[in-house]
Formats: sequence, C-alpha cells, structure tokens
Amino acid sequence: MVKHVAIIMDGNGRWAQKRNKKRTVGHYYGSENVRNIALEALDMGIEVITLYAFSTENWKRPEKEIEYLMKLPAVFFDKFLDELMEKGIAISTIGDLSRIPEKTRKVMENAVEKTKHNSKLTLNFALNYGSRDEIVRATRELVRDQPVEITEEVFSSYLDTSDFPEVDVLIRTGGDKRLSNYLLWQLAYAELVFLDLAWPDFTRDEFRKCISEFEARERTFGGL
Ligand code: FPP
Repeated sequence: MVKHVAIIMDGNGRWAQKRNKKRTVGHYYGSENVRNIALEALDMGIEVITLYAFSTENWKRPEKEIEYLMKLPAVFFDKFLDELMEKGIAISTIGDLSRIPEKTRKVMENAVEKTKHNSKLTLNFALNYGSRDEIVRATRELVRDQPVEITEEVFSSYLDTSDFPEVDVLIRTGGDKRLSNYLLWQLAYAELVFLDLAWPDFTRDEFRKCISEFEARERTFGGL
C-alpha cells in the first residue's frame, strides 16, 4: 500500500505563459488542482500527500510572484476549508515557517488547528522548505539535546516529517528530472516519477495511474 506521496508541483508558470497569461495565473490553477489530487488521494486511501508549495530557493523569484504565492493559502482555505472539514482532511506543514509573512503563517496555523482532529488524509504543505535547511535545523537540535545514541531513527525523529510514514512515491510534474532540494533524506527508498505534464494539467486519472503502478510492485529496500 502506498501511504505517503510527495509531489513537486512544477510547470505552473510555463502553463500560464503558453496561454498568454501571467505566471501567477498558473499558480492559481495549480492551487485549484491541489483539491483534485487531494480528493483522489482520499478515495485511494492514501495517508499523506506532501506538496512542495514554496522552497527556500523560491525567495529569489520576483517580488510580485512571491507576494502572490504568499497570498494563495488564504485564497485556497477560504474556498476549501469547509470541504476539507467535511471530508476529514487534515492540514499540516513542514519547513521553516518563521520566515513566512505573519499573515500567511496565521492562515496556515489556523488551517492546521481547525483540521487537527481529521484523520482520513493529511495534506502536508512544504513552505519555505529546503531539505538541506531541514537537515541543518535537525542537526542543531540534535547537538543541543545530545541524545545518548545517534541512529537513523533518532535522526529521523528530528526531521520535520517525523510524524509521517516513509515517502513511497515522489511525483514531479513539469518535465524536469531533479529533486530541487526536496526531501533528500526521506526519498532514499522512494519510487521516482517524472512527468512532462504541467501541474495544472495533472489530472486525478493520471495520479491514480501513477500510484497504482507502484501498489503492484514489491519494494525490497535493498534486500531480495
Ligand atoms: C513551481 O512551478 C511551483 C511553485 C513554485 C509553487 C507551487 C504552488 C502551488 C501550486 C500552490 C500551492 C497551494 C497552496 C494552497 C499553498 P513554476 O512556477 O516553477 O513553474 P515553471 O517551471 O513553469 O516556471
């Protein structure tokens, strides 16, 4: 069973530009598509989807685009929070939210708080997330705590993803075949799927097809 799917939602900007629209229009349709994929994941009994919504590198984008991306959570939750409650979907976040504008952080915290008793699916947003940053933050805490033993399990428990099962599948849309500083530790044994489709064009059917392929496959984690 696939329990945890990580997604890099790439190709929004190009999707919009191809239609002679501003890049932010692509992000808007991209956020609408989060709903579609969440509903499909819910139907399939997946436990967690972790979505790369804003990376530690995305601060290098034009100010206007950053501003828009920071407003998107409010737009998204205004529209869908009731439905998320109805369907039993919980919201969570990973990444360093201390650098996110206060308004956006409050919107995320409110969604996390309101949905915290929902248990059907967790929609986990990676915001101001970078894997190297996460590993450095984890190491800082580890050094501070000085645990008796440092094992893989102990180290994992210091990562932002400590509450979640192992990532089974990574899907990246948009045509590029790289990890872009996303979940480097967590993807150690994950199946990787790179698709040419832009994120706003990635349908529920396509998602189901990707996942079903791996449900049939036996993973050996290096054994036989
Ligand atoms: C990459 O596409 C995508 C992002 C940097 C942002 C993705 C965010 C969303 C889809 C919205 C998330 C939803 C919520 C509610 C926070 P790109 O702009 O790099 O595309 P390009 O490669 O075509 O330029």
